[in-house]
Amino acid sequence: MSVISNQIGKRPRAVGDWSSRDLYFSLLAPSGFSKGRADSAGFLAAHLKHTSQHFTDVPAHPEQLEAWLGEHNEAVGSQFQEYLAARKAGQPRWFFSSKAHALYFLRVVAPTKMVDGAWLYGLTRHWHDARFTSLLKIYLEELGDGVEAMNHVAMYRKLLKVNECEDWKALDDKFFTQGAVQLALAANTETHLPEVIGFNLGYEQLPLHLLITAYELQELNIDPYYFTLHTTIDNAHSGHARAAVGAVTEAMPTFGSSRHYMERIMAGVKLNDAGLGTLDLIKHFDLLGEVVRVLQSKASIGQYMHSNRCMIDGKTINEWLAEPEQVARLLNVMEKTGWIKRHQDPEQSRFWQVIHAEKAPMFGVFTAYERQVIYDWIAGDVLETLPKVARLGAPWRRVAQAPEPEVLGNVYDLRSGRRLAERLLEANDFNQEQLSLDRYLQGLGAKRMDFLIDWLSPAKHHTSLGLCATRYFKAYMDTSYLHGDSPQ
Ligand SMILES: [Fe+2]
Ligand SMILES: [Fe+2]
Repeated sequence: MSVISNQIGKRPRAVGDWSSRDLYFSLLAPSGFSKGRADSAGFLAAHLKHTSQHFTDVPAHPEQLEAWLGEHNEAVGSQFQEYLAARKAGQPRWFFSSKAHALYFLRVVAPTKMVDGAWLYGLTRHWHDARFTSLLKIYLEELGDGVEAMNHVAMYRKLLKVNECEDWKALDDKFFTQGAVQLALAANTETHLPEVIGFNLGYEQLPLHLLITAYELQELNIDPYYFTLHTTIDNAHSGHARAAVGAVTEAMPTFGSSRHYMERIMAGVKLNDAGLGTLDLIKHFDLLGEVVRVLQSKASIGQYMHSNRCMIDGKTINEWLAEPEQVARLLNVMEKTGWIKRHQDPEQSRFWQVIHAEKAPMFGVFTAYERQVIYDWIAGDVLETLPKVARLGAPWRRVAQAPEPEVLGNVYDLRSGRRLAERLLEANDFNQEQLSLDRYLQGLGAKRMDFLIDWLSPAKHHTSLGLCATRYFKAYMDTSYLHGDSPQ
């Protein structure tokens, strides 16, 4: 556990008076970047100040970055080998105590993952400037180049859906800080370019926790693809980690003083420490606290749903649930009266029986995530001895991706930039939006890039039109690079 404890405890808990959650959603709202810029600039300044004293091993001299990249990857690789050896020797998982713990992590990291890549959005306005090619390439790859199955945000949204962890928008403020920082960088790129480049440099490096997370998710029967993808696409040889290093020197001529430029790059690198990091989130998990929260969240509706014949310790269930602060005591009473038999197979507990079996009276009240929390808590000390299918569910299988419907294929060939045959655009009830977008773009002429950029924003790029706009954007951009001019 030393890996976790070493890195815990140095992060900020609160910075300034801003609500990260409010800022996060206001920046994602329509026209959020123009309306929320002033607030987000202050928020960004406060976090830059707060993280300025943090330590980073990223070198402050651009010529040392290449060597550092190699060393960093070697170190992470050998630490991961140590982890694997420790696990092989019988050590328990380092991160996730149970499947509920892992699902909790997926849920609380959602505010960050649902804006994956956002810090680079501000570069899209500079698509014609060759100095930012690497950064734009990274941004478009985060967007899957407009292919839904490869769009990181769409991918994470599916992961949350499959595991019924979609209620992340109601999480506490502290879980939104890192995502709000990423959006604030996007909203303020015009005045924070080196900080954006530095943040990207820090973010795109392979961390040890990513490798361990993917390994343990797989072990707990959760599709690790989102995480394994980031170990490959962000690789140090040809992936985002390398491109992020290249981006530092590519943009260098923009600034007169390279020393000042590098100082701001380093401030951006350190900004990665804002909010709760992966290890904080993992440590934050409290199984009993989560059981109580889940039951409390049902209490407002549940208090009217039970018949008054159902009594526990002299009170009806409705009376118990009428006071959410009594939920912890209710659990205690349920244990005493035998409704819940902790540290045994949950199948032995009447409470588990009424919530999970298909024809059970409370079937469907709890989501898969919530049932997992309750199951793992009841099973307690015997959890790991229970049959795998009972404690981890039926083995997941990656569903073969449905082929992209023809109409969603780009109307431009991404390699040549040439327009494809009109036959792809036969109208039907499913492609009206795309057809009107196509007609509209034709009419916009040179202004079409500005229009598309709006659809590439963190709030929109993962919608079907956003994905379509990303494909157009990439096709126009590639064509213009090919011909060395602006698109006609
Ligand atoms: Fe990503
Ligand atoms: Fe990346």
